[in-house]
Amino acid sequence: MDTETLLDQETLDKRVRELAQELSRDFMGQTPILVGILKGSAIFLTDLIRHMNIDCEIDFLSISSYGNRTESSGSIKLLKDLDRDIFERDVIVVEDIVDSGYSLAYIRRYLAARNPRSLSIVALLDKRDRRETHVYVDYVGFPIPDRFVVGYGLDFAERFRGLSFIGVLSEDEVEAVRNQATP
Ligand code: IMP
Ligand code: MG
Repeated sequence: MDTETLLDQETLDKRVRELAQELSRDFMGQTPILVGILKGSAIFLTDLIRHMNIDCEIDFLSISSYGNRTESSGSIKLLKDLDRDIFERDVIVVEDIVDSGYSLAYIRRYLAARNPRSLSIVALLDKRDRRETHVYVDYVGFPIPDRFVVGYGLDFAERFRGLSFIGVLSEDEVEAVRNQATP
């Protein structure tokens, strides 16, 4: 594969450990619920929680994604709700990447309506230049440039999630996936 590396495994690991330390410090004495946004955040969440030194619960939300396109439509649908009640709990939303901001703005509104005690967001990657709607992100792993990235949970047409680094696909790789994609 000729995937370009944007963030290598060691860089990711170091930053995830730092974020875990920060969260452990900020939520010391509490038992927050980590709410992973499926499916992109799954790998980040499982690494994050293993480096935290406070106990946490885990839950997941799933919202509609882009399908095989690489642009957000701005219209969001809930595909899977939480299993747990978050009323008066400390909720930490774990997201892979913030792009336009529409997904997280929706998630923040949706979860805030259930009256958690606190609501924070941690996003591994942040494409700041792409923001179309304001959303406050409490913890950011890495600001990144406006490029479509894959790996460490992030996909292109459901592929490449298992790469241990964050990379940018070559034109050939994008073309190969497009040619295989079922409609
Ligand atoms: P937003 O609603 O535009 O902020 O989009 C956020 C969601 O789009 C993320 O949770 C990802 O699932 C997806 N996404 C945005 N940019 C990328 C990317 O570069 N690679 C893979 N997925 C992305
Ligand atoms: Mg996502």
